[in-house]
Parts: sequence; C-alpha cells; structure tokens
Amino acid sequence: MNLPDLQKAKIRTSDKVEYKENDLVSSDRFLGKKYFLRTYGCQMNEHDSEQMKGTLEFLGMSSTDDLDMADVIILNTCAIRENAHDKVFGYLGRIKHLKKIKPEIIVAIGGCMSQEPRITKELLDRHPYVNIVFGTHNIHELGTMLLEANSKKQDVQVYSVEGEVRENVLYKRDSNISAWVNIIYGCDKFCTYCIVPYTRGKERSRKIEEIVKEVEDLKARGYMEVTLLGQNVNAYGNDFKDGTEFSDLLEKVAQTNIPRIRFVTSHPWNFTDKMIDIIAKYENVMPYIHLPIQSGSSRILKLMGRRYTKEEYIELFQKMKEKIPGVAITTDIIVGFPGETNDDFEETLEIVETCQFDGAYTFIFSPRVGTPASLMEDSTLLTVKETRLQKLNERVNYYSKLNNEKLVGTTVPVLILGVSEKDSSKVYGYTDTMKLVNVVASHDTIGTIIPVLIQDAKSFSLDGVFQK
Ligand code: SAH
Ligand code: SF4
Ligand code: F3S
Repeated sequence: MNLPDLQKAKIRTSDKVEYKENDLVSSDRFLGKKYFLRTYGCQMNEHDSEQMKGTLEFLGMSSTDDLDMADVIILNTCAIRENAHDKVFGYLGRIKHLKKIKPEIIVAIGGCMSQEPRITKELLDRHPYVNIVFGTHNIHELGTMLLEANSKKQDVQVYSVEGEVRENVLYKRDSNISAWVNIIYGCDKFCTYCIVPYTRGKERSRKIEEIVKEVEDLKARGYMEVTLLGQNVNAYGNDFKDGTEFSDLLEKVAQTNIPRIRFVTSHPWNFTDKMIDIIAKYENVMPYIHLPIQSGSSRILKLMGRRYTKEEYIELFQKMKEKIPGVAITTDIIVGFPGETNDDFEETLEIVETCQFDGAYTFIFSPRVGTPASLMEDSTLLTVKETRLQKLNERVNYYSKLNNEKLVGTTVPVLILGVSEKDSSKVYGYTDTMKLVNVVASHDTIGTIIPVLIQDAKSFSLDGVFQK
C-alpha cells in the first residue's frame, strides 16, 4: 500500500499521530456520546458525511440535531463560492459561544475549505476553539484524530496529495432506499473559475469490480436506486489508460438489475455516443442528465476553459433528446464571469430558450483564490450581475414549469422516498426524470416504485395521486 507522502502534507502541526489504516482502535472514550454533523456543498460532500457518520457511530456515538446536546461537532465544509465560506464562519460564531459554556466538546472541521491553505491558517490563527482540521484526502483518519483529540488543543492534518483510492469504507447511509456510490474522485478539468481540482485532487477512478460489488451489495440489502458520483462521471476510467470509459461501467452497473441508476455530474466535453447508447439501451438507467453549460457564449466558454462551444453543446443536447426517449436535461449556469458583456449574457438567455431546460442551478461568479479567473479583469458591477441573474432565473423557471406542466394528466412511475415534509398525509418521491412529486398515498408505499397520476405542476415540484 502506498501511504500519502507526509513530507508533502501542507500543514501538520501535530507530529504525535502516526499514519494509521482504516481499522480503528477500540476505545470507549466516545461510547454513548452525541455528535452533531452539518454538511455544506455538493452530493460528494453529503456522501463523505456518510463516511464520517460511519466512523462516529463505530466509535459508539449517535447523532443529534441539537447543537447544544453535542459532545462532538463536525462541519463538513464547501469552498465553491464565497457564500459557502461565509456560512461556515457564521456558524463557527455559534460554536465559539457554545465552547465557552461547554469547553469539553470537540470541534472538527473537514471538507473542501480545509484543503485551502489560507483557510486552514485562518482557522489556526483566529479560531483556537476548533480542535481538529482534516481534509478531503484523510477522512479515514477522522476516528484516530478524534480518539487522540484534546479539547484544549488543535490538531491539523490536511494532505495536499490524494493517496490511493480506498475500498471497504464504512458508511452510515442516510437512506435505505437510494444510495450514493463514488465512481471517480477528483477533477483534472481545471475550469478557470473552479476550486474543485485544488480541493479534491487528481481524477482517480474506482475499479469496475469494486463499484459493481458495492451496487450488488446495496441491491441485496433492498436498495432501489444508486446514484454514481463524480465531479465529472464521463472522465471515469481515463486514469486506467486502458480504454475503459464510463459507458463500460454504466453497462455493468445496469446489468446488476438494480431498479434505478442515476449519475452526476456529466461534462459536455467528452460525452461519447456510446454513453448515450447505453443510457438509451437499459431501462434501469434513468433518462435524466445533468449537463452543466455554464454560459451560452462561446467566447466566455473559452475563457472558462470548458472545452466546448455553444454549437457543440447544442449538438450534444439535441442528440441526447433524439436518442434517449423522454430524457430530462438540467444544467448549471454562471452569470457575471469576468468580461461577460450584455451580448454574452443575451446568448445565455438564448440558449435557455433553445434548450428549454428541465431545470437549472444558477450562480453569480465568485472569484476563488488560486484560480486563474480570480485574476481576470472584472469590471461588471455586482448590481448588473444581480439583474442578469434575476432575468435568467425568470427564464429558467418558466421552462421548468412548462416542462412540468407537460406531465399533468399523465401517469408516471415514482420511487417513493419518504413522508412529505409539508404534509404528513402525503409521501414524496422522484420520477425517472428526477422530478420531485408529492403524492397522495399511504406510508406503506415508501421504498417502492408506484404509478402516480400527475395533477398539478409548479416550477420545482409536482403533485399527484397513487393510481392503484
Ligand atoms: N463538476 C461539476 C460541477 C461542480 S461545482 C461540473 O463540472 O459541472 C457546481 C457548479 O458550481 C458548477 O457547475 C458551476 O456552475 C458552479 N461554480 C463553480 N465554481 C464557481 C464559481 N467560482 N463561482 C460561481 N459558480 C461556480
Ligand atoms: Fe470544476 Fe470544471 Fe471540474 Fe466541474 S469540471 S469540478 S466545474 S473544474
Ligand atoms: Fe463544494 Fe467541495 Fe463539492 S467545494 S461543491 S463540497 S467538491
């Protein structure tokens, strides 16, 4: 086994902890204690939190939603935009206050922010009540760090190198119906605005056999759905350098016959025809693709380092629509990238008209320290960017609703995941095209796929009734 090179570790203020394998020393230090874990950011972070929970529960702890009750507090952070940072530092204010009343609690910060040296430095200099800082490459060391933690000291271990892909990870999954499955870690795309390649390291794929084994095990345990996770799933296998590609994996996962398979996120750059064919061929591969476009202007796409033009995106989009019956496609869009003119922005609005996306996550560009785009000249006023965002959202929501309305009066299969948050007499679930539906049906339907007659459509959800 190759150990991460400790010499290359960016910050290592404690030298008492030697590198240890997954296996945790049994100890009763945390037996019966409570942990509070808060997750920021993307699905990958959600899944990492399931790994952290696996460790915490292995140590004998149980979770609490009440910060005041916690013996261990963990924040799994995100660095994608400045407001993600702000949220974490805002929350740290509450924790600082709590630590004054309960000095014995252990506070740990993990996730993508920890991988940023300037943030780690800030945590060390200005937040001495934080006891543990760990990164995205050493989640497996959380248990060891906790067992050796001292509520009056700081232990910071963040590795700048990725280390080997780890298998047999202990997870405490949030759902027993739908599961996340990592297929590729890291990202090599280095889009000029994005921090992810710096916080998540190089692209590393898991072996097909390991992924299939995990999916088969989940299926045997009654899981109905898996979502294959990667910052860019269609880069899967590139690092094997033997021609393996995402479609090979997807086909093998489809052949496990688990009822539903999803994947996020796809990059428009190297989405091959073979991938489209496999999605179309297997009924258990859901007809839903999240395909971030980022901008409708080829000039801005070039500055972003996205590797495709507006025309190439539209061509791929139309091919998907033609070949995959009923496919829903959603996207991500950034407004106010440095140098974005009104004309560039108009092109973004135009592409929303052309593609009529089922949904879109929209963001104002946020400069990230260390990325090339943060050094590009940006003279557009924030108020202008905000107006653009608002205009874009109106367009995007119009088409989400229009697409949703097309389903009214039809009966569609919905995987029911739980009781509706707003109305406990209803349940909620997702269509194969990843649309949220609140359904009039008994709680017994949770965990099954049922036919639902869609009665009403909004921008972000549908209402329906179980068609027995
Ligand atoms: N790997 C995925 C996206 C990960 S981040 C992909 O390549 O599509 C999710 C989204 O956040 C991105 O698609 C982008 O729209 C947005 N984003 C990333 N960096 C950003 C930044 N610096 N400012 C604003 N939005 C950003
Ligand atoms: Fe970021 Fe681009 Fe990688 Fe997505 S593909 S994670 S946007 S660098
Ligand atoms: Fe945020 Fe890291 Fe995900 S920066 S979006 S949590 S990969």
